[in-house]
Amino acid sequence: MDGRELVRALGSLGTARGWRAARAGWRTRRIDARGLPVRGPERARVPGEVTSAEPRPGGGVVRFTRSELMIRVVVGGAVFWGWDGAEPEPSYALGSAVPGADPRAVLEPDKDGGWQVVSERVTVLVSRHGAVEVRTPGGMVLRRDLPPRWWEPAAGVPAGAAPAGRGPGDGSGGGRPRRPERRWTLRTEVPADARFFGLGGRASGPRLPDGVHQLWNTDPKGPFGPGDDPLYITMPVLLVVSDAGTHLAFHDNSWDGRVTLREGEEGAGSGHDRPGVCETRMEGGPLRCWVIVGKPSRVMSRWARLTGTPAVPPSWALGPHHARWGFGSEAEVRRIVAGYQERGLPLSAVHLDIDHYDGHRVFTVDRERFPALPALAEELRQQGVRLVSIVDPAVKAEQGYAVYDGGSAAGAFVRDWRGREVRGVVWPGWCAYPDFTDPQARRWWGGLYEERLAQGFSGVWHDMNEPVSFAPAGDRTLPRSARHSLEGHGGDHREAHNVYGLAMARAGYEGLRSLRPDERPFLFSRSGWAGMQRYGGTWSGDVATGWPGLRASLSLVLGLGLCGVPYSGPDIGGFDGSPSAELYLRWFQLGAYLPLFRTHAAIHAGRREPWEFGPEVLQATRALLAERERLRPYWVTLAHLARLTGAPYVRPLWWGAPDDRLLRECGDAFLLGDALLVAPVLEPGVERRAVRLPRGRWYDTATGRAYDGPGQVMVEAPAARIPVLARAGSVVPVRGADGRLELEVWTPVGGRRGGGLVVPDAGDGWERPEVERYTVRLTDGGVRVRQVRAEGSGRPLRPVRVRP
Ligand code: NOJ
Repeated sequence: MDGRELVRALGSLGTARGWRAARAGWRTRRIDARGLPVRGPERARVPGEVTSAEPRPGGGVVRFTRSELMIRVVVGGAVFWGWDGAEPEPSYALGSAVPGADPRAVLEPDKDGGWQVVSERVTVLVSRHGAVEVRTPGGMVLRRDLPPRWWEPAAGVPAGAAPAGRGPGDGSGGGRPRRPERRWTLRTEVPADARFFGLGGRASGPRLPDGVHQLWNTDPKGPFGPGDDPLYITMPVLLVVSDAGTHLAFHDNSWDGRVTLREGEEGAGSGHDRPGVCETRMEGGPLRCWVIVGKPSRVMSRWARLTGTPAVPPSWALGPHHARWGFGSEAEVRRIVAGYQERGLPLSAVHLDIDHYDGHRVFTVDRERFPALPALAEELRQQGVRLVSIVDPAVKAEQGYAVYDGGSAAGAFVRDWRGREVRGVVWPGWCAYPDFTDPQARRWWGGLYEERLAQGFSGVWHDMNEPVSFAPAGDRTLPRSARHSLEGHGGDHREAHNVYGLAMARAGYEGLRSLRPDERPFLFSRSGWAGMQRYGGTWSGDVATGWPGLRASLSLVLGLGLCGVPYSGPDIGGFDGSPSAELYLRWFQLGAYLPLFRTHAAIHAGRREPWEFGPEVLQATRALLAERERLRPYWVTLAHLARLTGAPYVRPLWWGAPDDRLLRECGDAFLLGDALLVAPVLEPGVERRAVRLPRGRWYDTATGRAYDGPGQVMVEAPAARIPVLARAGSVVPVRGADGRLELEVWTPVGGRRGGGLVVPDAGDGWERPEVERYTVRLTDGGVRVRQVRAEGSGRPLRPVRVRP
């Protein structure tokens, strides 16, 4: 325990909740002491020498003296490999339609006594001792995994044996696990110039720093900044970008683990390159991996095909949101909404936090302070404002409380190894935790959203689902020995922890879908894992108020997007304390160009309404809110394109040019779709900033001034606005003065073609709007815009405005 933790721990003992938390922490340790398998002497094992191989569809199996490796290339080009019987399924990450084996990929002997699988997009080489190398079709090495190493009980475990906690008496009920899991380590070398991205939501990035990154979803115990790691969403998804190419590697394993990164060095020691290294260590679970190779856009599209396409938020969720922990009453909600309206500030949604619950009990309402929530919701809806509700997973363990009684009767709560319901401490006091890895518990939970819909809520915000149980020190979650269904396979919290938030999102999403089948659910969740985009998005969590927190906000959104989760955003202004007017405005300016555009703060934090920071801030935020609304059709387009192509709305500058090393280093600006480049101000006292441009011409959207990339330019960034640049030749769908969709076309460079895709808003249901395709050219007669149709191109039916 460090000093900060100790002070916090001692401080918390002054409250009833603090005492309970201390007891909960003690109970967790006691349960785990008896409920986790005892680790005896262990020995390391490596695969040994290759002995034989057997071709199978898409690849085959290579056998070694002590292990076997299965390789399969699937349709679309992703490669799967698994050791010792590990198959792609079961998996929490994969979507419903896992592509089948590519019959054209075949296993054949290579000249060095190993084996190789050659496919259209990638070649996989397996050495005689079990190193696995991935190469581009041109022969460039993208990664080389050294032979893996397992630690297993010295007494020996047969290769491929079922992991601990599986089998009779080891389901979600009681029973001590029979034997410890096999831990494993895999060391991977990548090119010396490679940069690492991803691993879920990380505060210091988007280029991941050297060092250890833990894979264990964690509530950081208060506001966090760039130094805090891990956070709420971790995932073993790593994007590696080098001159040789880009690839994504996913270790499909939800256990606790750690990834140690070390960037390489070119020309290190006697002129030789020192490769970059990524070492993955997992505390258990299968050793299996997916690798996708190609341009970033291709990698992300295959990733979405594998893990499921991102849910498209309803259009209103792409507008401005205002949240607050502690509105405290209907009157205060009305006051805030009126405040927006009186000042001409657009607002799409208001979020109610846990203070609207009755005694912090989920799926209840404090009727004294919120006596007529459905009427309030209807009134706001008439004004174009939706209500969103927080939903916490922990259920107050109190007989007579319908949610608890229902869950208990359904056997829906997590139990310990003795078969007793696990208790943790959260806002309402002692709580039980639904086992979202149990399909029946998910169905029960999903049905509870009927109450939220009846209260008039249009969307949900899942919180505390790492899951959290307060403890003064150590891990603030459930005992690792707690039992889970894991879709009927049975297992414990060591395996279920990281997928808990993901499985809760599934329960909520499926519940909302069946309760209100005509509308797309709006759901975002603090915790999650690979594949969570199928159900919705996420947000920053409790990002600390301060300039480092502002920077962390961008890192999180970019990193999550590269892991396939495109919809997220920070608490504008930071979660705690009171931002200065300057910081608030700079945060607002960044947030206006991120998918979830939401102000939010803690119960004792200062105000976050735009009018609380003086007339200049009010004027600037009004312009930003109006611009966000003007760009709504572009946001709708980006949301649909994420569904269709897997491309995140917010992308790193190197998206289209991963071989541009200078762009790879650049984490303080981003692309919003194909058309815009946003350069937020992340430091105080700045009025101009350097912007690194990808190739092509870029127009400052405020001044119309043109800049040519690649290269670095200085751009004005006065207090009232951040630089937003438009790519020459791009087509940006915007809302015109009459509310109709217009095309804003940015003049292309002579001789170059431009164009863009537009997906019109088809309402909040399931209709799939048709994608409109436009081309742009500069001719003698000016800028010529054509719409590409099946019967040939023609004049666009939509109004066109050429800029600058
Ligand atoms: C923690 C969440 O991160 C925060 O956004 C929320 O306001 C509090 N829990 C209270 O519900």
